[in-house]
Amino acid sequence: MKFFVDTADTAEIADLAATGLLDGVTTNPSLIARAGRDFLEVTREICALVDGPVSAEVVALDHAGMLREAEVLRKLAPNVCIKVPLTVDGLKTCKALTGEGTMVNVTLCFSANQALLAAKAGASFISPFVGRHDDNGFDGMELIRDIRLIYDNYAFATEILVASVRHGVHVLEAARIGADVMTAPPAVIRGLFRHVLTDKGIEGFLADWAKTGQSI
Ligand code: E4P
Repeated sequence: MKFFVDTADTAEIADLAATGLLDGVTTNPSLIARAGRDFLEVTREICALVDGPVSAEVVALDHAGMLREAEVLRKLAPNVCIKVPLTVDGLKTCKALTGEGTMVNVTLCFSANQALLAAKAGASFISPFVGRHDDNGFDGMELIRDIRLIYDNYAFATEILVASVRHGVHVLEAARIGADVMTAPPAVIRGLFRHVLTDKGIEGFLADWAKTGQSI
């Protein structure tokens, strides 16, 4: 499963990219606002930090406006992935852009039927928001299971990008189901490395090593 980080904080991205485990980045208008940086400038900078796809979201709601914004965004770097909302205009834009070879991430997906439409529109990625789905009394991971089944039934190439990930159990479940990608905030990704028994084990080994008086 590929790991994307869901942030526009370049220091966090650079730090995680240094682990060699980061496959891409997702941003959205809220994350750009949180970063407090110029959208185009920060997106260009992020694209230089990772080799993989960097999702940059359009804000226009109509097809022509989305195409206009996508034109600006895709000039930033070859690894820009245009993020469009799951609406009629968003999917029209998706079809047009992927037809020209531009990567598209269809965002704000909350149903398996929406995911089916995105795949038919040729989306490179579909982003079902599991955390927000859970928050509203639905089962986010059930949605991922349904999408996996449907995509496999028809051999759709669209990658399932599990989004709105809130904790390690979402990541574990996504991997069990066979999602292609998950995107999570930096803190959730860092949390995956940690285990109390790993820390305790290191502590014990170092204490015993000190007793040997040796060095490597
Ligand atoms: C995905 O691309 C979105 O940016 C993100 O995962 C949304 O997550 P949130 O529900 O935590 O805002």
